Amino acid sequence: MEIEEDKVYYRTKNIIIYNDDFLATSHIEESSVDLIVTSPPYNLDIHYNSFDDKIPYKKYLEFTEFWLEKAYKLSKEDGRLCLNIPLDKNKGGQQSVYADIVTIAKEIGWKYHSTVVWNEGNISRRTAWGSWLSASAPYVIAPVEMIVIMHKKRWKKLSKGKKSDITKDEFIEWTNGLWTFSGESKKRVKHPAPFPTELPKRCIKLFTFVGDTVLDPFLGSGSTLIACAFLNRKGIGVEIDRNYCEIAKQRVIQDGKILQSTLFDDTKSVRTQSKEIK
Ligand SMILES: C[S@@+](CC[C@H](N)C(=O)[O-])C[C@H]1O[C@@H](n2cnc3c(N)ncnc32)[C@H](O)[C@@H]1O
Repeated sequence: MEIEEDKVYYRTKNIIIYNDDFLATSHIEESSVDLIVTSPPYNLDIHYNSFDDKIPYKKYLEFTEFWLEKAYKLSKEDGRLCLNIPLDKNKGGQQSVYADIVTIAKEIGWKYHSTVVWNEGNISRRTAWGSWLSASAPYVIAPVEMIVIMHKKRWKKLSKGKKSDITKDEFIEWTNGLWTFSGESKKRVKHPAPFPTELPKRCIKLFTFVGDTVLDPFLGSGSTLIACAFLNRKGIGVEIDRNYCEIAKQRVIQDGKILQSTLFDDTKSVRTQSKEIK
């Protein structure tokens, strides 16, 4: 399949950024992805440059269905999904976001494996109490986010000739489904809703082998690709906003050590030449 070069924003031998709408993109080969790590827009009225993050909840769930269906097609049979989403939503009406998204994913065919509770430790942000010191209408808010782990068909991944790079301590700590580390600073990375590189790093080391293909369909500031570059995985990112693509590119260049391997040489979905397109 020919790649429309104008959609390729940045490319090295093992990292590629597409400036495209994930729902419309045709660049990623079906059944080619080992792991999807992503946090989609949360519909919390976050002010992204190119995306309306305040749509009716029903529409948001439709959008969720569309992109999860596409992600399913792109995954290998033993492909996995690590989906960072809120537990629930209090702004603009209470909603059980986590439960609703898991239900949709299962209807599409994704198989549930487990959930990591990420304790972001940002309780200081708390401002909405509902009814202060009164039983009239108090708000209960959990200062956590969820990382749902799902898979396409088989949980057991083919490992022949492949290498895991997770250490004993990491394996013991990270297989405990309560993760505690801080969120990323919006100011530092110049994006309104980044996750810290620690999140994709853990998912990638736990759930993929060295050289596997990782996709982030909502790349934002590029955290997933930085982890890919560090960990010698093939990384594919899709981001609808050109400014965020530039931020991701700069972060990958500065923070991620670009490994001059020939990792993309054997994939059909991505060409081998290393070139940048602005
Ligand atoms: C929650 S942010 C992801 C942040 C990312 N995890 C990071 O560390 O920076 C969601 C991103 O999805 C992008 N986005 C929204 N709709 C999109 C679409 N249809 N296709 C691709 N990207 C989209 C937004 O511009 C935003 O940057």
